[in-house]
Amino acid sequence: MERALAIMLLVTIVLAATTSGVIAMDIKHKDLASEDSLQELYERWYEHYSVTRDLDDKARRFKVFKENARMIHKFNQGDTPYKLSLNLFADMTDEEVHRAYGHCSNIKSDGRKHRRRHGPFRRDALVSRKGLPASVDWRRGPSAVTSVKLQGTYCGSCWAFAATAAVEGINFIRTRNLTSLSAQQLVDCDKGNGGCNGGFAKLGFKYIMQSGGIETEAKYPYVGHENGHCSVPKPNRNPVVTIDGYKQVVPNEVVALEQAVATQPVVVGVDSNSTALLRYGRGVFVGPCGTNLDHEMTVVGYGTSHEYKNPVRYWIVKNSWGTDWGENGYIRIARRLKGQPKGGICGILIDASYPVKFSRKGTMIS
Ligand SMILES: *[C@@H]1O[C@H](CO)[C@@H](O)[C@H](O)[C@H]1NC(C)=O
Ligand SMILES: *[C@@H]1O[C@H](CO)[C@@H](O)[C@H](O)[C@H]1NC(C)=O
Repeated sequence: MERALAIMLLVTIVLAATTSGVIAMDIKHKDLASEDSLQELYERWYEHYSVTRDLDDKARRFKVFKENARMIHKFNQGDTPYKLSLNLFADMTDEEVHRAYGHCSNIKSDGRKHRRRHGPFRRDALVSRKGLPASVDWRRGPSAVTSVKLQGTYCGSCWAFAATAAVEGINFIRTRNLTSLSAQQLVDCDKGNGGCNGGFAKLGFKYIMQSGGIETEAKYPYVGHENGHCSVPKPNRNPVVTIDGYKQVVPNEVVALEQAVATQPVVVGVDSNSTALLRYGRGVFVGPCGTNLDHEMTVVGYGTSHEYKNPVRYWIVKNSWGTDWGENGYIRIARRLKGQPKGGICGILIDASYPVKFSRKGTMIS
């Protein structure tokens, strides 16, 4: 009895701590009132995210933090379907964040752009919108989506996490087994991609096909930098998860991406080089952002939000910037927004792809 009470108390404390943490990071007018209140806000943020900076750096970072806090507070007074937040990037400049976390796809090691090549296109006839479910969420029971990962400060491995998320999804759909797969294997072993210098999820799919499979995260864990060697034998005779191919979603067609996402999680390219995206907090993201794809994430569903004055349709997108960014690591990006660019918000419709995995009997269910 006493023990049950103690556990309940503990649960309450943990819950309270989590909730107050979130509330603490909402900026109020009075937080911006003076240098002291801003300093307090910075200290609260600093503890909340358990960051460590040396003292000189901290003074410089406080300056950046103040500017960000003012900008975010001002933006959040406006009328938009999404809000910005003092997320884990709050004391970094846009350029620092983009260099560290975005900028991981479509980039050659010398900083020049790769030509994006399209893979095999999906040949299925497009269904009409009416034939599709109104909403899809692959995280909902039983989940086809593993926990959100953190790519870390100086490894441009978004493409590897986007690829593993999509393979985890189709593997679960075919085998009912949800297992985190090794992004590190892609970073170390996939010579078609650039490791921490960036790459493309679809080349990652190609590697997984050709090398005979991918290991679990548990067996080949992520370290956030290149190991300098590949730790799986070639060919891998004991691969954990295999795929049979990959396909490209017809570009610039909302219904084509909806159809693909209704079938399984799908990798998308996006433009991450905007203040709004880097500082995204919650709600349905509508930009402003460009369509110059430099980041990859995985769409794990779509739906319609009624939190704003008018309904806003969205994609549910899993990122690899940890759970302290966005909505527990996810961003909802507007879908079918009036007047959106041809390539979709942040270019989300331009370059979508997904792995193909046959069912055990060797027939394709999709
Ligand atoms: C799921 O797959 C992993 C990796 O192959 C394996 O270790 C685990 O035992 C499987 N789980 C179940 C319940 O089959
Ligand atoms: C990101 O956007 C900024 C502002 O638009 C621009 O100056 C910068 O060159 C961009 N960075 C990259 C790597 O494209």
